Parts: sequence; C-alpha cells; structure tokens
Amino acid sequence: MPHDRPDTTHLIHHPYTPPADFEAPQPGVFKASTVYFPNVAAMRSRQWKDKSGYTYGLHGTPTTYTLEERLCALEGGRQCLLVPSGLAAIATTAMALLKSGDEVLIPDNAYGPNKALAEGELAHWGISHRCYDPMQPAALEAMIGERTRLVWLEAPGSVTMEFPDLPALVRLCQARGVVCALDNTWGAGLAFAPFDLFGDGTLGVDISVHALTKYPSGGGDVLMGSLVTRDPALHLKLKLCHMRLGLGVGANDVEAVLRALPSIGLRYAAQDQSARALARWWQAQPQCVQVLHPALAGAPGHAHWRSLCAPRGGEGLAAGLFSVVISPRYGQAQVDAFCDSLQRFRIGYSWGGPVSLVVPYALAGMRALPTPQLQAGHLLRFSMGLEAAQALQDDLAQALQRHLPI
Ligand SMILES: Cc1ncc(COP(=O)(O)O)c(C=O)c1O
Repeated sequence: MPHDRPDTTHLIHHPYTPPADFEAPQPGVFKASTVYFPNVAAMRSRQWKDKSGYTYGLHGTPTTYTLEERLCALEGGRQCLLVPSGLAAIATTAMALLKSGDEVLIPDNAYGPNKALAEGELAHWGISHRCYDPMQPAALEAMIGERTRLVWLEAPGSVTMEFPDLPALVRLCQARGVVCALDNTWGAGLAFAPFDLFGDGTLGVDISVHALTKYPSGGGDVLMGSLVTRDPALHLKLKLCHMRLGLGVGANDVEAVLRALPSIGLRYAAQDQSARALARWWQAQPQCVQVLHPALAGAPGHAHWRSLCAPRGGEGLAAGLFSVVISPRYGQAQVDAFCDSLQRFRIGYSWGGPVSLVVPYALAGMRALPTPQLQAGHLLRFSMGLEAAQALQDDLAQALQRHLPI
C-alpha cells in the first residue's frame, strides 16, 4: 500500500483502559454519539426506553443519566428528560400530549413564549388555547372542557409575580382528569415540592418543567431544560416524543449544571435575601407605586405563597426576582435612562446567574385579561445576582437620584 499518510490505527484502537476505581467530587464527563455494543446480540437486546443500558448518545450517557437522577432528587420526581432549553421543555410537553382538536389552558401571566407557542405552532396544528386567570380557580374550573388535555401552571406568574393557589388549581385538574404541567423554574425544587405540595404525599403536579438555564446552571452561560414526572406511562409519552424530535443536550453543558447543582441551595437563598432586601427598600421609594414580590405582605397572592413556601412559619423561600412599578408621572425616556445608568445591574434577560439584571416590560400586549391588581406605571423586573445587597441598593439609589428625581 502506498504510504501517503501515517498509520494511526493503534491510536484509534488503543488497548489501554484506565483502572475503574477513580472517585472525585465531580462525576466523569462522557461524550458520545456512537455507543459500542460488545456484540450484535447486545445491540439487538438493549433498550433505550429505560436506563438499563446505553444505545446511542441521544438516548443517554452516564453523564446525562447522572444529571437526570439528581434533578429527580431536587424536584421529588422519578423520571427526568433533558432538553436544550426551558422553552424546549415547554414545547416538548405540548407536542407530546396534544393533538389536533385538543385544547390547552395557559395562565394569563405565563412565561410569554409559552403563549406564543400556542398562538403559533399549536394553532397551526389545530390545537386551540385559552388563557385563564390563575388567581381565580373557579374561572379555570369553568374553562376545563371536553377538549381540554393540558393545563399549564406557574407559581408565581412571570414578570407580575402573582402567586396562585397552586394546590386548588392542581386539585381541579385532577378532579377533571386533565394533565397539569407546572413551569417550576421559579420554585426550582427548593421553595416548595412540586410533587408533594402539602408534604404528606397527597397532592402534586403531573409534570414539572424547569428551565435549568436559571438556578441549576447558575452561571448565565448554559441553556437547558428538564421534564420531571412520577408516572412511568406519562414519562414514556414524553420520552417517545423527545426521541422522535431528536432532542439532545451537550455533555459540556450537562457537566456545567452538574458542577453548579451542589451550590444551588446557597445561591438560591442568597439571591432570595437580596431580592427581599431590595424589594423592601423599593417600597420606601416615592418614585415606586408598587412592588411585586410574593413574599411581601400585600403582594398579589402573598397568602398563597406563605401557605406553600413557608408552611411552618418563618421566612420561607422565594427566588431572587421581583418587579416594581415606577410612577406614571415619569416619562419612558426617564425610566430608560434610569436603567441605562445602572452600573451593577446589567440590562439582559434571564435570571439565576451571578450578575444582577434589569428588564423594562411593556405590559400592554402581554396580558389577554384585565390586570386590576396592578398599578399603572412603568414595570421593571429585577433579578438578583450574587453581588452584595448593599452594593446593589447603592446602585439603584444613584440611578434614581440622577434620572427619577422626586
Ligand atoms: C418562567 C420561565 N420558564 C421558562 C423559561 C425558558 O427558559 P429558556 O431560556 O431556557 O428557554 C424562562 C426563561 O426566561 C422563564 O422565565
């Protein structure tokens, strides 16, 4: 044979295997599309539907299985699927459970792209949706009909932070035999147990969807989502759709989440404390007409937050997020200049990372139903990073002084 390239076969088929008994704080990272089988019989007999073996990278590696099991532990579930983003987890749920002619009910304050998916692809496929007021369980009860196959829940709602009576909504869905899926990104498996809302095993959601992009990743550098369940049949339905859509996640991203997960409780509590400190500070600022944080007395749904997230009294837990309504006497340009002049808060979407963020929202167009619980004004959403709360407060104070004079 002509020798026109060096023979590296021995590097590709190298006989060395390292000793097996290596242990370290972080699990090993396995990357694969191809997975080897020792023989054809093993190839034919291996199952990809459970975690008894490996068939193809898309169906799982030791790295993805490990994260899935840890997320089950975080949320109190039994099965978990990983997807490339939180929104992909929402979309996979819808695609797995809905078919033409079905209806999905979505809280009016849901994460916006959930509604956009319903208005776009789901509508194209003949699946209808309606938005319900999550603060009125009776309204949801009246809406659940013959064609309703899925009810979305979110606690609290996105941006405006109303905290619903989650157990009441879940009970309603169960009584009517409709699957309920919770977007549990805010609770993160820490503020309350989605599959055991009363702590006595009597009530829980069917599916907990989680944007791991936020607290589990914690770095502002990873996009990933999960779907956690407790019912094997429901999991299999989701898994079949997941497989047919070819959804996979990269091992490096899984590694980043595995590395961040041990500190999630510390980060969540720290960001919660900062958010509450700043939310209380905003309450004393005359430029602010309303502070939206479910742990503050008087906030929409505060009593529901308290009974779910602080059932034994005490401080309870809440994510590091809140919104404020700036008085309408200021112009949009002044409010924008306030945001632009912040030094510690950066302008950007998402939450749960190390850097504090601010986003101005225009509620008009975001809600289908009236919002009498909200004051008129300019809505700003703040998410806490890991900076000192005092440094963040000083930053807000200097920007207020410069651009929103009393
Ligand atoms: C409540 C909620 N759910 C889901 C998502 C979607 O997560 P991702 O950005 O990973 O798609 C977000 C993102 O902001 C969110 O706030």
